[in-house]
Amino acid sequence: MSIDFSARPTVGRDRELQQLDAALEALADDAPGAVAIEGEPGIGKSRLLRELRDRAEARGQLLLCGSAAEFERSMPFSVWADALNAYVAAQDLELPDADDLAEILPALRRPGAAGSAVADDRYRAHRALRGLLARLAQDRPLVLALDDLHWSDQASIDLVAALLRRAPSAPVLLVLAFRPGQAPPALTAALATPVVQRIALEPLCERDAAMLLGADGADAGAQTIFRRAGGNPFYLEQLAGRPASAPRQRGRRRRSRRHPRRRGGVAGGGARRAVAG
Ligand SMILES: Nc1ncnc2c1ncn2[C@@H]1O[C@H](COP(=O)(O)OP(=O)(O)OP(=O)(O)O)[C@@H](O)[C@H]1O
Ligand SMILES: [Mg+2]
Repeated sequence: MSIDFSARPTVGRDRELQQLDAALEALADDAPGAVAIEGEPGIGKSRLLRELRDRAEARGQLLLCGSAAEFERSMPFSVWADALNAYVAAQDLELPDADDLAEILPALRRPGAAGSAVADDRYRAHRALRGLLARLAQDRPLVLALDDLHWSDQASIDLVAALLRRAPSAPVLLVLAFRPGQAPPALTAALATPVVQRIALEPLCERDAAMLLGADGADAGAQTIFRRAGGNPFYLEQLAGRPASAPRQRGRRRRSRRHPRRRGGVAGGGARRAVAG
């Protein structure tokens, strides 16, 4: 019988969750911020984003999420469009710089208008996006989570870099998750700034691994699984018999399976409107 691990609570990660809570708290004080969540495949980056979503919602903050996808690397601004396009289209906002934003968000593109790779246009698009984020954060703080950034296209990385160089003048928290081993040099360089708080996820300890498996620390089966999986939650789940994609396929899934483009998913683009509270 298969085990539904996704329904189980997150184990461990106390320190990391405290860091995220502190970042959300600072946001409530109107300060923009940036957090990078990094770690090997299966270590729990997206899981942490799920926790972030719940915590942001509980605070009455707006959370928008996007994921980069391996097969969209040649599409400029794809991760930003994934995070913002549907939400912005649904808001019916008055946007004076809609043409500049249309570089990034296809929903704002006028029929027949072509994208541009001209540096000046890109700069204007960055500026317009910075303004849009400030606008979206007008009523309540905005948390923008971008997952799988190691697959990001260059234009998306340039935009991340631009926002880290100059943050929106509003309570906007950028949360950027990626696999460092697969990160393009431009992403690594963009994140190498003190404004980014780093959260590097390590393998779970044996006690937390046993909890993930629903066993206690003395359980011989859980100990064997821990020795083989090395504390990586994905491999723990695999070895415990969850019928999921084979480990060697990890990282090759298409968004349609792994990151469905549905509103409300942590890693699937769209809005998470906060629960007022
Ligand atoms: N601390 C945790 N407690 C319980 N389950 C966890 C924890 N961390 C990760 N998991 C589970 O382990 C699996 C892998 O985690 P996740 O998908 O978050 O990894 P990832 O770092 O995002 O990997 P990738 O780089 O492939 O996207 C998921 O099923 C997730 O729910
Ligand atoms: Mg992930």
